[in-house]
Amino acid sequence: MMHRDCERILFSEEQLRARVAEVAREVDKLYVGKTPLCVGILKGSIIFYADFIRHLTSPVELDFMAVSSYGSGAVSSGKLKIKKDLDRNVKGRDVIIVEDIIDSGFTLANLKQLLLERGANSVLIVTLLNKKARRNYDISPDFNCFDIENEFVVGYGLDYNERYRSLPYIGILKLSVYEK
Ligand code: PRP
Repeated sequence: MMHRDCERILFSEEQLRARVAEVAREVDKLYVGKTPLCVGILKGSIIFYADFIRHLTSPVELDFMAVSSYGSGAVSSGKLKIKKDLDRNVKGRDVIIVEDIIDSGFTLANLKQLLLERGANSVLIVTLLNKKARRNYDISPDFNCFDIENEFVVGYGLDYNERYRSLPYIGILKLSVYEK
């Protein structure tokens, strides 16, 4: 049953399960004999992250960051604000950033640079959704599950005002919900 605040389902549970598994298996091939550090960006990525890591066969270490996307719509003025930093030192590590959505690219462009400055050996970006039309920064994911248009999507971790994250599918929110 679809939530009544959704206009339609964009990606069903089955589509998400299949595509996340497919992408994770591709990523996994790059880390044979390595122990990557999987960095989930809170909170939108949590469900994608949990599904993604369970397809990795290499030993992985898990860590999380929370960052503020304040300034993300702007051209280049904003600075990334770290609300929760990593517990692990990334020096020399092969890092996989797991993110729910790349929009302007502000968050991931800054995060990648930060982790490289801290001495990460490599930084791979894996996203669930890519809103290409909105890109303002010179960055693209190394792996992405689905390209989407400029639609307001919720579910599978993504929210509107902290709601709808637990929906098992990705839905398009009704205009009437966020325009009231
Ligand atoms: C979203 C998303 C990215 C960022 C993408 O986070 O998870 O971190 O915005 O936008 P950008 O490419 O324009 O930087 P949000 O601030 O909604 O936080 P959340 O993950 O906790 O929902």
